[in-house]
Amino acid sequence: MINRICTFYFTGTDTTKTVVQTLAQEIAKNLEIDDIFDYNFTTPEAREEMPIFSEGDLVITGVPTIAGRVPNLLLPYLGKIEANGALGVPIGLFGNRNIDDCLVELRDLMKNGGMNIIAGGAFVGEHSFSEILAKGRPDNKDIEIIKEFGKKIAEKIKNEDISEPEMVGEVPYRIYYTPRDRHGNGIDIRKVKPKTDMEKCIDCKLCAEICPMGAIDFKDVSQTPGICMKCCACIKKCPTDAKYFDDEGYLYHAHELEDLYERRAEVEYFV
Ligand SMILES: Cc1cc2nc3c(=O)[nH]c(=O)nc-3n(C[C@H](O)[C@H](O)[C@H](O)COP(=O)(O)O)c2cc1C
Repeated sequence: MINRICTFYFTGTDTTKTVVQTLAQEIAKNLEIDDIFDYNFTTPEAREEMPIFSEGDLVITGVPTIAGRVPNLLLPYLGKIEANGALGVPIGLFGNRNIDDCLVELRDLMKNGGMNIIAGGAFVGEHSFSEILAKGRPDNKDIEIIKEFGKKIAEKIKNEDISEPEMVGEVPYRIYYTPRDRHGNGIDIRKVKPKTDMEKCIDCKLCAEICPMGAIDFKDVSQTPGICMKCCACIKKCPTDAKYFDDEGYLYHAHELEDLYERRAEVEYFV
C-alpha cells in the first residue's frame, strides 16, 4: 500500500525536523521501507519547487505553530500541494503555549492538495523565543511517544485502514493569537528585526543562508532589509551568539510566555 515515506517540513530551529524525521524512521522500520524522501521547504529557494507526491506515498508534513496557526507565509506554498491520493500525516509543533488551530489548518491544506489524512499530531518543541520554555524538547520522553505513534500508524497502514481521525483544533479557525501587555493592549512585534553584535560576528553568512525569509543582507549581515518572521533561526544557530532581539515589546512577550507557560505541555496524537 505504501512504498515511499516522505518528510515534508518547514523548520526554523529544527524541532519540527526532529519530530518529522523521527516519526518517518519509525514508520519505515515497522513497514520495512528503505526509501525516505526528505524535503525541507524552509528557505525561499526550496519553496520555488513543489515535490509531486502520488499514491503509494506517505507524506509526513510538519510546521511550527505561529500565533496559533500555520505560519501565514507558508499558505501560498502549501496551497500548491499536489498529492494525487498520497496518504498524509500533519504534524504541528508548538512551544509550550498551545497548538490552537495549527494542526487542523495544516490538515485542511493537505486535504485540499489531495491527501488522505490517516493520523496527525501536536508535539512540543523548545520555544523559538526562549531557551527555557520547553527547553530541549522534543526530549527523550517525547521521542518515545513519537515512536509509539509511528508504530500505530504503521499498524493502521498494514490493516489498510485509511480513516481520518478527529484532531484538536477548531474550524472555522480562530484569529491569530495576539500577545498582550499587562494592561491588555496588543503588542505588535511584526516589524521587529534582529540586531547583530559586530564584536562577536565573524561574517560567516550562516544567518543569511538559513533565513526562511531571505531577509538578511548577504553583503552586510547586520542588516535585515526583508521581513523577519521571528523564527529565531539566526539567533539560535549563530556560532558566536552574535544575533539578538532588543525590542522592548518582544522581550516583554518572551518573558511573559516563560512565566505563564512554565509547565510541561503534553503532546497529543490522533490515529
Ligand atoms: C512568531 C512565532 C510565533 C509562535 N507562536 C506560538 C504559539 O502560538 N503557540 C505556541 O505554543 N508556540 C508558538 N511558537 C513557538 C514554536 O511553535 C515552537 O517553538 C516550535 O517548536 C518551533 O519549531 P522549529 O524549531 O521547527 O522552528 C511561536 C514561534 C514563533 C517564531
